[in-house]
Order: sequence, then C-alpha cells, then structure tokens
Amino acid sequence: MIVLGIESSCDETAAAVVRDGKMLSNVIATQIKDHSAFGGVVPEIASRKHLEAISPVIERALADAKLTLNGIEGIAVTRGPGLVGSLLVGLSTAKALAYALGIPLAGVNHIEGHVMASFLSDEKPQFPFIALVVSGGHTNVYLVNDYHQFCRLGQTRDDAAGEALDKAARLLGLGYPGGVIIDKLSVNGNPEAYDFPRAMKDSSDFSFSGLKTSLLNMLKKRGRPFSDDELPDVAASYQEAIVDVLVRKTVREGLVHNIRQLVVCGGVAANSRLRHRFTEAARAEGMDLFIPPMVLCTDNAAMIAVLGEIILKNRGGDALDLNAVSRWPLVDCRP
Ligand code: KG4
Ligand code: ZN
Repeated sequence: MIVLGIESSCDETAAAVVRDGKMLSNVIATQIKDHSAFGGVVPEIASRKHLEAISPVIERALADAKLTLNGIEGIAVTRGPGLVGSLLVGLSTAKALAYALGIPLAGVNHIEGHVMASFLSDEKPQFPFIALVVSGGHTNVYLVNDYHQFCRLGQTRDDAAGEALDKAARLLGLGYPGGVIIDKLSVNGNPEAYDFPRAMKDSSDFSFSGLKTSLLNMLKKRGRPFSDDELPDVAASYQEAIVDVLVRKTVREGLVHNIRQLVVCGGVAANSRLRHRFTEAARAEGMDLFIPPMVLCTDNAAMIAVLGEIILKNRGGDALDLNAVSRWPLVDCRP
C-alpha cells in the first residue's frame, strides 16, 4: 500500500510517502528561525507557517517519491497530541485530499508515530519491547505488547527531557532549540565538571524541574554568566544528568520485565551522548537497541505514514468528521 503521511503537530511541517513499510520520501520544513527570537514555539505563528508550507511540502514529497496524487492509496495524518491550530492545518489538508481522491484517511497518534519510526529500518524490533519516548513534550517509558498496545511504566512528573534542555539553553543564553545546541557544545565539555541532581532515582517516573532550578540557583549564586570557556563543561554536565536517568531507568524496566529489546525515539533521541550511552548500556546488558536515524527521531511524517499504513490495513480508515486533539494519551494497559 502507498501512503502519504502528513505531520503538523508543532513547529515542523512534514510530508512523506511510504510503500509497504519502506520510506520513499521524507520532506520536512522547519519553522525554527520563525520562533527562535521568542525562545520557544509561538502557536499562532506556527499555524500560519504550516498553512504556507503544507502544499509545497506535500508536492515535494510526491515528487521525491516519483509519484502524483493519483498514485496514493491512503492518507495518514497526525491527529494529536499537539497544538490544535497547527494540527488542524495538516488534518484539514489530509481530509480534503482523502475526500477528493476517494481514498481512506487514518488519524494517528504522534507519540505512537515516534515509536513506529523504528519500524522504518531493516532491523525492526519484535513485540514486546520497552520504548522510551523522549521529546520536547514527552518523557514516557512504555512496555509495548503489540500495535496500539502500550502500557505506560513511567512518565515525567513535570518537565519533559527536551523541555529541560531547551530551558537550560535559554538560561545559559544559548538560543533555541536548546537540545541541539547543548548537544554540540557538550562534545568539547567534561560531563563530570559540575554535579547536577539526578531526581527520583528509585522511581519509574522522571522529574527534571529540580535540575533546571539547580542551574538557575548556580547562575544566581555566581551573579554572572558562564564564560565561553566554562559553557561546554556546564552543558556537558547538565546533559549528562538527563542522559544518566534516561538510560538507567529505561534499561532497568527492561530488566524488571525481562524484555531484551529497547526502542529509543523522539527528538531527544537525536542526542549524540544519549545514543552513545544507550549503545554502551544495551551492549553491557546484552539487549538489542533500536534508535531511528536522527532525521526520523525529530518530528517527521514518515513515522506517521508507516503507522497509518498499519492502521489502514488492520482496521480501515476514519470518518471525515475526525477532529484534532491536543491531549491524547496512548491506550493504557497493565504490564
Ligand atoms: O520530537 P520533537 O521533534 O518534537 C516534539 O514532539 O516535542 O522533539 C523536540 C525536542 C526539543 O526539545 C529539542 O531541543 C530536542 O527534541 N532535540 C534534541 C536534539 N535534537 C532535538 N535534544 C538533544 N539533542 C539533540 N541533538
Ligand atoms: Zn514529536
């Protein structure tokens, strides 16, 4: 089946074509420069930029896949969670295309999409597996028993890991989006130079707001910003505190539930230190690790299309009165 995927839940307008689980094209128009002056995503600007980008991005995705609209057999679109004004741009476009072409539409969950990005690789995880979804809005660990069968084992009680990186970058005057900047800066820093807290060590849940506060207190105590020479060490130590808990707790869930396959996904899974530490930890425990390539970790439509294809094959399409949802927790079950 040939599926066109559309994603517009936050600040990336994306379209991709997937055929039988293989990616034929993957186009992403990012709005980073439109929001950077504000230090974060401005919902009203995001919706307007999605409107400008959506048609050219879809045309490009079709052209890259060497197809026209008539070659598409189904449409998959992110229905939530996300910014409703942004989601509606993708959803309305998807509905219009599905109606005009007379093909089925699947409204899919963005978080489930992140997990399914790992199914675009030749080496696919087998159910059941442990999945860490770590992004700007989410830090969740799931036991995934099957398609759509997600048991949440842990979640953040406050900030998401990506949010903690973005907020730290803002405090340090590094700009937006913070995760990428901190990742680059940390390459030349010492992760043990500063001692940042690792909260809730024994819990399956996460908490990152205390980490951010400890950086803020450190800055207040100093009374002056960190110098260019000091910044790599601060960034590397702060990043390490986040990576440490993410790796430790995810691996621990694998051991507790006797599951030897780990999937790590979402924007923060693009982090080079996180990828390195997970690779080392999985090797040490004899676990199989699945982390999508970086371009499929941050928001993209290929992950939406691959999930949409599964949904369309298994349960058919949604009605065209489908609405966007800002919050949409994955189906919960007992581990
Ligand atoms: O999945 P995503 O693109 O959007 C959401 O669904 O939230 O994730 C965005 C988050 C941001 O917080 C961003 O700073 C972070 O992912 N991020 C990174 C890296 N690239 C993106 N964090 C750490 N290292 C990176 N290389
Ligand atoms: Zn995302």
